[in-house]
Amino acid sequence: MAAATQRQFLPMPAALSSRAARLEPFDWYREMRTEAPVRYDDDRQVWDVFRYDDTKRVLADTESFSSDVARADVFEFPDEDLFRPLQRSILRSDPPRHTWLRDVVDDQFQPGAIGALAPHVREIADELLDERLADGEMDVVEDLAYPLPVIVIAELLGVPADDRDRFKQWSDVLVADVSAAADPQTIIERQEETIRELRAYFEDLIKQRRAIPEDDLITHIATTDPDGHRLTDEDVLGYCILLLVAGNVTTTNLIGNAIRCFDERPELYDELAADRDVLAAAIEEVLRYRSPVQALSRVATTDVELRGETIESGDLVVTWLGSANRDESQFDDPDEFQPERRPNQHIAFGHGVHFCLGAPLARLEARISLGRLLDRAEGIQCVAEERPPVSSSFLHGVEQLPIRFESV
Ligand code: HEM
Repeated sequence: MAAATQRQFLPMPAALSSRAARLEPFDWYREMRTEAPVRYDDDRQVWDVFRYDDTKRVLADTESFSSDVARADVFEFPDEDLFRPLQRSILRSDPPRHTWLRDVVDDQFQPGAIGALAPHVREIADELLDERLADGEMDVVEDLAYPLPVIVIAELLGVPADDRDRFKQWSDVLVADVSAAADPQTIIERQEETIRELRAYFEDLIKQRRAIPEDDLITHIATTDPDGHRLTDEDVLGYCILLLVAGNVTTTNLIGNAIRCFDERPELYDELAADRDVLAAAIEEVLRYRSPVQALSRVATTDVELRGETIESGDLVVTWLGSANRDESQFDDPDEFQPERRPNQHIAFGHGVHFCLGAPLARLEARISLGRLLDRAEGIQCVAEERPPVSSSFLHGVEQLPIRFESV
């Protein structure tokens, strides 16, 4: 359906262009689920899918809906070589390539392997909290939710955690909502520049690890031959960049969003602090209620009928996880934050073969960091009324979240 247009990014829907709508997109989702659950947006030349069942169907059917979105008719990349490591990464690959790419690190990210990191993650959380607790105030995002996941993924990969300010800059630029910028071209140029810098940063490390292996993920990715498929330098590079960015931007928003949710129900704090199972269930509800990743994209590989609409081969499709997770046909009282909700079959980590590789790590990091904050601080209150939303067309969270508390 889409006419070929030269475009490298996916714009936000007009309905979500304001700050207020990005902080609370849920009324719009509800309207869309009722009035236009599968709709073509002429402005963006994209199909939007809002309901839970439809979203799962699209994500499960990798034959009809490819993750290799660069091949959608609406996109055209002037410098394909530059972006290729990311476009050919596991996130953007379909089976069978996806299957063997996933095998490379699947074992490393299983709950058992990740569980072994708990004592060290706790140490990192405590060190970060030590720096701020005596003040009785901190910024949950800047002081805890951002540094913790980035230190952990940097250590796992084998890159210096001290470079984390650069990682943040790079990640922020790569996920930025280009369509919201006054000058999109400048952001596109910064994205290109960022990829060049990331390439330079990792290319050297990959060479070093191939020459002198170490006990880290870069070495593992660079030296494993899954099923006899040798990873090219570009494959390794794409993996490293993806893990760094995915480990950077998503868990941060989960932790920040958790505090936003708990702030709506402060009477819960004592119970959350006293019982780790209650906290774990509450984090699942945060994932549903304020899903850190709100949208995923796919491209149709064939004409597909969905809810009476015909999606044509080559069309871009956006599935709204943030809306699916509020679908009234799946969840009772979906617009209420209910930490005790069971069952809670949210799809905040996606669905099907691309189900988030980092889910066990994200859960561990959220449970430990929030658990330690609640152990060590009482009477937590968010203090700022104005909360800047993260600048991204698919992430949900805030850039800053100052809180006040009493240190215990
Ligand atoms: C995939 C969400 C944390 C690494 C995904 C997908 C979602 C998601 C929705 C599916 C993408 C798709 O189907 O197109 C989240 C959320 C997180 C989180 C909400 C935190 C709360 C992490 C972390 C890592 C990670 C910490 C790694 C350190 C990945 C990778 C994939 C992925 C590598 C691609 C998997 C594949 O294609 O098979 N994530 N993620 N994620 N995530 Fe996460």
